[in-house]
Amino acid sequence: MDEKPCLDMITVDLTGFCNLSCPFCLNDFPKPLDRNRKYMDEKTFEKVLTLLPLVPDGCFYLSCLFEPTLHPDLIGFIKKIPEPYGKKVCLTTNLAKVSEQVIHDLAESHINCINISIDSLEDETFKQLRTGADLYRFMKNLEKLTQYAVASDVSPDIRFITIATKLNYKEIPGLVKKCAEMFKPAGHEIRDFCIPLTKQEWGMKNKLTLSQWVSLDDELSKLPYGCTLDDHIGFFPPNRQADVESPYFREKIKGLRIHADGEVEYLGSDIFIDINRIDDPLYYFKSLIHFIEMDHRKTDELQKVAGLLIKKNITIKAEEEIEYCLDQVFFRSVTVIFMGWCFHKRNKPVNIYLVFPDNKKVKLDYSPLESPDVERSVGELGTKCRFLISVPLAHKYSPIDFEQISIEFKSG
Ligand SMILES: C[S@@+](CC[C@H](N)C(=O)[O-])C[C@H]1O[C@@H](n2cnc3c(N)ncnc32)[C@H](O)[C@@H]1O
Ligand code: SF4
Repeated sequence: MDEKPCLDMITVDLTGFCNLSCPFCLNDFPKPLDRNRKYMDEKTFEKVLTLLPLVPDGCFYLSCLFEPTLHPDLIGFIKKIPEPYGKKVCLTTNLAKVSEQVIHDLAESHINCINISIDSLEDETFKQLRTGADLYRFMKNLEKLTQYAVASDVSPDIRFITIATKLNYKEIPGLVKKCAEMFKPAGHEIRDFCIPLTKQEWGMKNKLTLSQWVSLDDELSKLPYGCTLDDHIGFFPPNRQADVESPYFREKIKGLRIHADGEVEYLGSDIFIDINRIDDPLYYFKSLIHFIEMDHRKTDELQKVAGLLIKKNITIKAEEEIEYCLDQVFFRSVTVIFMGWCFHKRNKPVNIYLVFPDNKKVKLDYSPLESPDVERSVGELGTKCRFLISVPLAHKYSPIDFEQISIEFKSG
C-alpha cells in the first residue's frame, strides 16, 4: 500500500457485452472490436489486479464501458481484490437484469462505490432511453441493493449517473429529488453524452441546447442535494470565435484501458500491450509510464513553444457567415496540429486552406462530425465540420515561419 499512484485511472472491461442497447451509448455495438467479444478470464484478472497500486482511491473502474454484471464470475472476481485495495475500485451498472444473489453480494462487497445509471422514472421515457430494460424490475433491483447496503457493515457507496437528453431533462430535478429521498446516494452526476458517428442522427435530435442546460443547471442549484453536472459543461458558454491569442491546452488524462482479452491500451497513445505476456505487470507498467511521462514532458515543452508562436502572428481569415474556432494547438514531435470547428450559417460547404509564408495554399480535408458545443452556440441549421490540420515541420518551414501562417475559411 506504500506505492504512490502515478495514473489518474484504470478501466477494466470484464466483458465486451451488454444486455441493453441505449440509444446514447458511447459503444458502437454493431462494430465491436473482436478482442472485446469475450469475458475476461481469471488469470488475466489476477494480473490486472497487480496494477491496483497505480491509481488513487475510486479510480479503478470495473467495466466502465460495457455491463459488468454479465460476467459469470463477477462476484468471485471482486472477492479476489485484496482487502486494502477495495477502496480503489468502482463499478458502474445498469442494474437491469441482475440476480438477487449478485445484488446481495455487491452490497456486501468491500469496493469503494457502485454507480447506478438512472435516466428516468417514467415508464415511456425509461423504455426509450434504456432500451431492453424494464422500469419495474430495475426499481426492484435498486430497492434491494440499497436495502442490503443499509444492512451491511462494509457496503460500497451508491452513486447515480443520469444522462441528460431532450427526452428526460424536464424530469431530472424531480428524479434527483426522488433518488436523494428514497436512496440517499453518496452522489448524483448529470451527464452530457458524446456518441459515435453511427448514432449521430439520434444525438443531433436529442442533445440539450445551451439554454436547456442553463435552465436545468438553474433548477438543480435550487435543490438541497449534492449533484454535479458533467465536467465539460464547465466550458459554457462556448465562444466559437475563440481568441487565437489564448489557445488552451487540454489536460491529458493519464490512464490505462484494459480490454477483456488482457490487451492494455495506454490512453491517448497507440501503445497496446498484452498483459498476459508480462511476468511482473506492476514493474513493467511503472517503467513504461515513467518513460511515457518523460516523453510527454518533452512534448509539453514543445507545446509551450507552439503556443508562443501561435500567440504571435498566426491569422485566421473567414468569410462572413462562417464561424470558426481553434480549439487546440499542439506540437507532436515534428508536427504542429491545429484542431477546431467551423460552421456555415447558410448550409454551404466550407473550404479550409492553410496558407504558407510563400503564399502556397493547401486545401485541407475535414470531417463532418457532430459538434455539440458548436450546435449549442450557433444553432442547429447550417453546415458544420471539424478540422484537424497537421503541418509537418519539414525543413522548408522552420518554427519561425509559423508566425506567418494563416488559415482561411471560404464558402465552397
Ligand atoms: C458505458 S456505461 C457502462 C456501464 C453500464 N452498462 C451502464 O450503462 O451503467 C457507463 C456509464 O456511462 C454512461 N454513458 C453511456 N453512454 C454514454 C455517452 N455516450 N456519453 C457519456 N456517458 C455515457 C452510462 O449511462 C453509464 O452511467
Ligand atoms: S447499458 Fe450501458 S453499456 Fe449497455 S447500452 Fe446502455 S449505456 Fe451502453
